[in-house]
Amino acid sequence: MTNSFRIVVLGGDGIGPEVCDQSVRLLRQMQPHLDGVEFELDHHSVGVGQYKKTGEALPPSAFDACEASDAVLLGAMGLPDVRYPNGKEIAPQLDLREKLQLYGGVRPIKLYHDSDTPLKGYGAGDIDFVLVRESTEGLFYGREAVADLEADEAINEMRITRKAAERVCRLSFEIARQRNKAKKVSLIDKANVLSSMVYFRHIFDEVAKDFPDITADHVYVDAAALFLVRRPQDFDVMVTENMFGDILSDLAAGIVGGMGMAPSGDIGETAAVFQPSHGSAPDIAGRGLANPIAMHLSTAMMLDWLGHGETKRAAAALHAAVADVLSDPSRRTADMGGKLSTVEITDLISGSLDRQLQSGGVAS
Ligand SMILES: NC(=O)c1ccc[n+]([C@@H]2O[C@H](COP(=O)([O-])OP(=O)(O)OC[C@H]3O[C@@H](n4cnc5c(N)ncnc54)[C@H](O)[C@@H]3O)[C@@H](O)[C@H]2O)c1
Repeated sequence: MTNSFRIVVLGGDGIGPEVCDQSVRLLRQMQPHLDGVEFELDHHSVGVGQYKKTGEALPPSAFDACEASDAVLLGAMGLPDVRYPNGKEIAPQLDLREKLQLYGGVRPIKLYHDSDTPLKGYGAGDIDFVLVRESTEGLFYGREAVADLEADEAINEMRITRKAAERVCRLSFEIARQRNKAKKVSLIDKANVLSSMVYFRHIFDEVAKDFPDITADHVYVDAAALFLVRRPQDFDVMVTENMFGDILSDLAAGIVGGMGMAPSGDIGETAAVFQPSHGSAPDIAGRGLANPIAMHLSTAMMLDWLGHGETKRAAAALHAAVADVLSDPSRRTADMGGKLSTVEITDLISGSLDRQLQSGGVAS
């Protein structure tokens, strides 16, 4: 019997389509090697380009396709100088997260080579943790509010609901249970100052009781920023609210090579979107300079999440191919000090991927 997986592909804006096309190419390459698995790729135009053409950044047909899909692969959306009349950027990726209730932004951070980190004394595998960002509320709640520029103040509130906090904490403990590490979940909060964070911590502690095999601890967000730079090896899984997660995930990307090395999966109960953590990088778009590794690693996360034995094997093979290419520090794109283009580094990954698939796929 063939298992057919419907994957919606949203290239988006800037470097989004450039990196997304390369991951689609790897998916097509993997297809014939997988027994009883078929990828049905469904491409939709979304983002600034689509907004300029039709006035809608996320057309209903694209949203419906995402809702009905097995998974969504997304490049990046938005451009800083294209805005709605209310002054805010076009950000359909945030609409998708909220409408599909993609509550868990899962962001694995891994160092593949000592030359990729600005931190001294760290080698491949020494930095290896997952940051889980609550993605439906927190300080992003109220993002629809419009600032009154004539008023004396502007206020945004932090919203933490029991439902959202519980499910993101539960997801984080489940991830820790599956990982081959210390099996620890650290709540990153600001419970010394904000009552919403006292509430989040209370719920985290309640959920922790259901996972007696996992260590649970708390770190204030300011200290977490310090520890990420001073002793990142202490983290296994971190869970935090939306805005803290937004900021810390860029810092975390910075210690393993930058935004081009930071994959992510936005996980919901009935849908999931896989995309690099970076944006559309308009400063380098259209020049073949984009680092596609975060997109490829997000694709591997998607294959793993699809949960079929063969897609999991493909995920392991893709991870192994990326690790294989990165084991040689001369194979890098410009953002990491190298000379390879988006296509050239994917060519190398593609070559290694064939070998990994033939040898059965090695987990990295
Ligand atoms: N999920 C998303 O779709 C998403 C996420 C973040 C930002 N954005 C949007 O993207 C636009 C640009 O945002 P920004 O400049 O703050 O962040 P950005 O991540 O696009 O770029 C930040 C810096 O990192 C570099 N960079 C990012 N990804 C790279 C890659 N794969 N390879 C090489 N270099 C890379 C860029 O060249 C730039 O110097 C904005 O409109 C923003 O709203 C979208």
